[in-house]
Amino acid sequence: MPVADFSLAGKVAVVTGGSRGIGRSIAVALAEAGADVCVAARKPEALEETLAAIRPTGRKAIAVPTNVRDIAALQNLVDETRRQLGRIDILVNNAATNPVFGPVANLDERAWDAVMNTNVKSVFFLSKMFREAVREQGQGGAIVNVSSTGGFRASTGLGAYSVSKAAVIMLTQVCAKEWGPDGIRVNCIAPGLIKTEFSRALWENEGILKNSTQGSPLRRIGDPDEMAGAVVYFASAASSFTTGETLILDGGGMA
Ligand SMILES: NC(=O)c1ccc[n+]([C@@H]2O[C@H](COP(=O)([O-])OP(=O)(O)OC[C@H]3O[C@@H](n4cnc5c(N)ncnc54)[C@H](OP(=O)(O)O)[C@@H]3O)[C@@H](O)[C@H]2O)c1
Repeated sequence: MPVADFSLAGKVAVVTGGSRGIGRSIAVALAEAGADVCVAARKPEALEETLAAIRPTGRKAIAVPTNVRDIAALQNLVDETRRQLGRIDILVNNAATNPVFGPVANLDERAWDAVMNTNVKSVFFLSKMFREAVREQGQGGAIVNVSSTGGFRASTGLGAYSVSKAAVIMLTQVCAKEWGPDGIRVNCIAPGLIKTEFSRALWENEGILKNSTQGSPLRRIGDPDEMAGAVVYFASAASSFTTGETLILDGGGMA
């Protein structure tokens, strides 16, 4: 066995929001590292595209269409993964939303609930269900949450989103602390601006793009594939003594 063991051979991973963007890159990378993968999101057609991207790795991959805001659907996701792939070892809580852009003063209850339920409540309840399954299996597991640099620094126009992503960082620490004795490590990545559909309004806006890149050491925004290595690290034995940690992946922008 190598000193630094990044292999996920024999493991099964679930990736929420695995149908495009950062989630798709993560799903493919986990399969490249040897895991069988279940991807979940709402639109089945886009999930199929991820399955096609995983196929060349030779790993098993399944799609379970899921709205993470539906708590019963989250239990189905865990159950279907175990039924079709035999077990569950890794959970990547990547799905998130930001339905509104603008001052928090304009935010209504519906938008607040949409952000919090998708970005925080689902992360907690799916993690709790994952923990139950992993405890039954008795071999430990790893959760990787996806926060944002917005969870550290208030993003103008993305107020509720920033609050939700700060909650994900603390949820990572709380679960890590309580579930370490169960053999479950919980870590988190915090991407900066990454070129996906989610953030199109930001990187297509010249002013915002310039702001994000000109003072940043690498002078550019990120690509979804650049998020995946850290997730493989946190999911694998290479990070076996690390839990409760959030790694910022922003080209040095927060430095
Ligand atoms: N892009 C960035 O600049 C950036 C920066 C920092 C952090 N992040 C974080 O990175 C993660 C991925 O973002 P991304 O940029 O890759 O976004 P994206 O390309 O828009 O992908 C979002 C994924 O989440 C799924 N999703 C959204 N709502 C869902 C729901 N209610 N139930 C199930 N799945 C749902 C989407 O599929 P369906 O629509 O089919 O459900 C899709 O697969 C998010 O947590 C985001 O906050 C992104």
